[in-house]
Amino acid sequence: MKNPIILCSRCYSTKLQLPKCNVKAPVYKGMSYEEMVSIRKRNLNPTLSTLYRKPLAFYKGSKQWLFDLDGNRYLDMFGGISTISVGHCHPKITKVLTEQSDTLGHVSNVYFHEKIHEYAKRLADTMPGNLKCVYFVNSGSEANDLALLMARAHTGKYDIFSLKNCYHGMTYQVMEMTSLSTYRFSVPGSPGIYKVSMIFLFRRK
Ligand SMILES: Cc1ncc(COP(=O)(O)O)c(C=O)c1O
Repeated sequence: MKNPIILCSRCYSTKLQLPKCNVKAPVYKGMSYEEMVSIRKRNLNPTLSTLYRKPLAFYKGSKQWLFDLDGNRYLDMFGGISTISVGHCHPKITKVLTEQSDTLGHVSNVYFHEKIHEYAKRLADTMPGNLKCVYFVNSGSEANDLALLMARAHTGKYDIFSLKNCYHGMTYQVMEMTSLSTYRFSVPGSPGIYKVSMIFLFRRK
């Protein structure tokens, strides 16, 4: 492993060093960076934007640590939504995932399977009051889409107000709620969604 690098935008005169770590990253033997760039251009859609001209490529993670193709170690301050809670490859999570993949992969919701019940109960037990009914979805976009449907079905009303400059996801309906030019296309949007400005509390406008 090379010298650990700290990921920060400014390095003052003192050279920062990462704390020691006992994770050993094996030597990377996979696809080259150049090949990834070439495949991206040919086979991946352009909406997979990276924000960087030459983004880092990682191949191994362990809790708060990430390793790039050259074995450099990074402290992952915020890598991705699904690693916020316990970081990368947490042994407890890896263990249960492996056990489940070895036992049963998928069962349609028209049949019963123990795990969804166990998970729903454990989640519901953490919630206050009568918040006891769980809907599982795969993403924030789906959750917002479902919330929209539920609100309309429950109230029998259709119009929705969403705040300008907020992000709500990228399914058809919530993209209309999103109201940020970077996430819009020149196609007709989902109807019944109105954008309102955020009240600036401090100026009382
Ligand atoms: C506030 C908010 N709403 C909705 C979403 C959409 O979630 P997803 O990308 O899981 O569809 C995000 C994702 O970053 C979000 O931050």
